[in-house]
Amino acid sequence: MPRRRKRDLIIKGFSKLLKEDKLKIVAQLMDKQVESVELMKSFWHADHTVQRIFDEFSENTISNFYIPYGIAPNFMINGETHLVPLVIEESSVVAAASSSAKFWSGHGGFHAEVVNAIKIGQIHFTWEGDKEKLLSVFDELTEAFRKSTKHITANMEKRGGGIVGFELIDMTDRMDDYYQIKVSFDTVDSMGANFINSCLEEFAVELKSFFKTNKVFSDNERNCLVIMSILSNYTPDCLVNAWVECNIDELNAIDNDLTGKEFVKKFSMAVKIAELDEYRATTHNKGIFNGIDAVAIATGNDFRAIEAAGHTYAARDGRYKSLSSVEVKDGKFKFMLEVPLAMGTVGGLTNLHPLAKKSLEILGNPSAKKLMMIAASVGLANNFAAVKSLVTKGIQIGHMKMHLFNILNHFGATIEEKKKAEEYFIDHKVSFATVNKFITNLRES
Ligand code: MEV
Repeated sequence: MPRRRKRDLIIKGFSKLLKEDKLKIVAQLMDKQVESVELMKSFWHADHTVQRIFDEFSENTISNFYIPYGIAPNFMINGETHLVPLVIEESSVVAAASSSAKFWSGHGGFHAEVVNAIKIGQIHFTWEGDKEKLLSVFDELTEAFRKSTKHITANMEKRGGGIVGFELIDMTDRMDDYYQIKVSFDTVDSMGANFINSCLEEFAVELKSFFKTNKVFSDNERNCLVIMSILSNYTPDCLVNAWVECNIDELNAIDNDLTGKEFVKKFSMAVKIAELDEYRATTHNKGIFNGIDAVAIATGNDFRAIEAAGHTYAARDGRYKSLSSVEVKDGKFKFMLEVPLAMGTVGGLTNLHPLAKKSLEILGNPSAKKLMMIAASVGLANNFAAVKSLVTKGIQIGHMKMHLFNILNHFGATIEEKKKAEEYFIDHKVSFATVNKFITNLRES
């Protein structure tokens, strides 16, 4: 029996070890080491070529971590229906998106539009000099920037994108001598992180040499300190709107206990609360990102970047609030979402991950703008389903029904037991305790 590894050991050269050896070291932290190694290995892809692709996405890989890949059908967006791939581990998210999609497909579907698709990069630097002088030669500087990155931007320009503009931002009131050059980019269908960062690093070199050589600057203005050059994940100008709307009367059948008018009143108040209260707003927006993240992961997009931008946008007025809103006017109900979504459909993981590629194929190989509209519609769908449940029957009925199989798996239920449980819990409340009791009784009888 191999010995257990002490938890205070420092490992040198771990990254250089073979995958099997890394796995063995990690297994020393586990209870049943031989079985644990086998379990981790059982998640390796049978095809070595595919497994190598996964290994090369990251570092020190020892296994793959599976997350369910589901489909939400019937998403009618701007008159076109989609089967939307969703990668998510949380029960109910796919079911909620699907039920919203089905409901709204009978009421005009989702509408969406991209407001703009501009991404931002920044060069942060300190400089002790006369700002007016810098502004007087700013066009010269940006011309030099453009020239220095021709080799990087040529391809992007062919695809209709490139550098959109430059802005000098004086931050000296926040930190001594601190300036930014804010650069706007259009990266067309790519997320564009590498493109933006490569350009910014070239600009930084050019900026230093510009101060050194331009005759407008005096000797004591020749030095600048570039602190860093990096894209910003806050993309308020990469913005998409999605909305659903219908006559209030069309919502009469949405719940057994509420008329359409009563439903709209409660629903609107629930959304209003998410505008007024940060605690509720966070959960409300989390419900939106349930859908958006699931599309982002399924299509190989960076969901951390998307979430970060969304939460900053939600706090853009100085207070964190709901990303969605309701309008009730002239007998009509309109539910809207406005969210920044920096997404791509070419380059990066979108093309490398075999399933991300398939997800895009399922969606008809959309442009980045179309994918933004799809993701926003799914976010809105999940938000609608969550708030609808919350103001009517509560979320636990649906949630726990979906969770039933997780609890059954916890008790190691057989297929036969699961079938019986599914029948029984049609009209019984699901909880850990009730399922435990059901399984115990079943096994005893
Ligand atoms: C759960 O993942 C998401 C909800 O909590 C969202 C909400 O409360 O609006 C149901």
